[in-house]
Amino acid sequence: MAGRLDGLGTTIFAEMSALAVATGSINLGQGFPDTDGPAEIVEAAVAALRGGANQYPPGPGIPELRAAIARHGRRFHGLDYDPDTEILVTTGATEAIAAAVLGLVEPGDEVIALEPYYDSYVANIAMAGGIRVPITLRTPGFRLDTDALRRAVSDRTRVILLNTPHNPTGTVLNPTELAAVADVAIAHDLVVISDEVYEHLTYDGPHIPISSLPGMRERTVRISSAGKTFSFTGWKIGWAMAPPDLLTAVRTAKQFLTYVSGAPFQPAVAVALGLPDAYFTGLCAQLRDRRDQLADGLAQLGFPVHRPQGTYFLTTDLGPWAAADGVEFCRALPHRAGVVAIPHQVFHDDKAAGRFLVRWAFCKRPEVLAQALDRLRAALG
Ligand SMILES: Cc1ncc(COP(=O)(O)O)c(C=O)c1O
Repeated sequence: MAGRLDGLGTTIFAEMSALAVATGSINLGQGFPDTDGPAEIVEAAVAALRGGANQYPPGPGIPELRAAIARHGRRFHGLDYDPDTEILVTTGATEAIAAAVLGLVEPGDEVIALEPYYDSYVANIAMAGGIRVPITLRTPGFRLDTDALRRAVSDRTRVILLNTPHNPTGTVLNPTELAAVADVAIAHDLVVISDEVYEHLTYDGPHIPISSLPGMRERTVRISSAGKTFSFTGWKIGWAMAPPDLLTAVRTAKQFLTYVSGAPFQPAVAVALGLPDAYFTGLCAQLRDRRDQLADGLAQLGFPVHRPQGTYFLTTDLGPWAAADGVEFCRALPHRAGVVAIPHQVFHDDKAAGRFLVRWAFCKRPEVLAQALDRLRAALG
């Protein structure tokens, strides 16, 4: 029997993780840090567990966390959201995105999304019965083609699903690109679902939430999470911020997905969001160094590097290491060099656009990145 999600399961991550284990490879495939976040935040979670935060928390999230999310948005981006009516705590950004798409997209609606896609978008749009309309970020530069965006709108378009900083390309949308998205959204009365989980990981300039642009707050669901900002990707505490009418749609979907999220982690994330500025700038500086370490090392090996402006990931072309495509290259690499990376094709509808591109995660300790580069040098150099 055919299902709506047939063929959408992304098996490459499981395959590559299994290959990493089987070959003893360094896994630069999946995006999680190999160092935990601040010890004091772990202690806050332990205290919450010991203090009895072990039953269902309130559906929208505990009041301290919603207040902390509101303060964080004001402090870093000048955004003003009411914690009682405009903020919802979710099980990671993953659930916030799913709930926003399920709550706001009707069967047959078109959803414009940046391609290559973060993997859950395709499945979420299919779950809602929507139709995805890609805007492809292409080399060189992976910039947003604003003319293509304008052409992509039809009378069935309902949502633009935005992701900046963008996984996997590392593009951070600039003010001109954001203004173009806002113009299109306002002109066609569209909702923007904006995935900003890497909001603190921008290396060459600030992150600008699209909801801070004139006319955008009322039509945007801004989504972020604690995973990348605090290096606790396994805690899965995320949030959506939106005006009450949009947030009600997201909350209704969330209610029937998980009902509530991570009781003992919520107070800990509330503490984390109040960490001093030095924490946030320190994390960003650390990841900028790691980006440069991996980018410089791969460039020395001859890989044409697309240096990202944000996220955990950088992309290279195959250059002199050409294979039939990125999938073939990545399948061989663990055996050949003891390193795992991910081919861009799996994030694309337009397989040709991603055919020779490979994504490498740099959210690892410097000695691990150095070892990965040594292995690549020994095998390829
Ligand atoms: C672009 C993007 N959105 C969402 C997520 C998921 O975030 P969370 O772990 O908070 O569910 C990720 C994680 O890799 C991501 O890269």
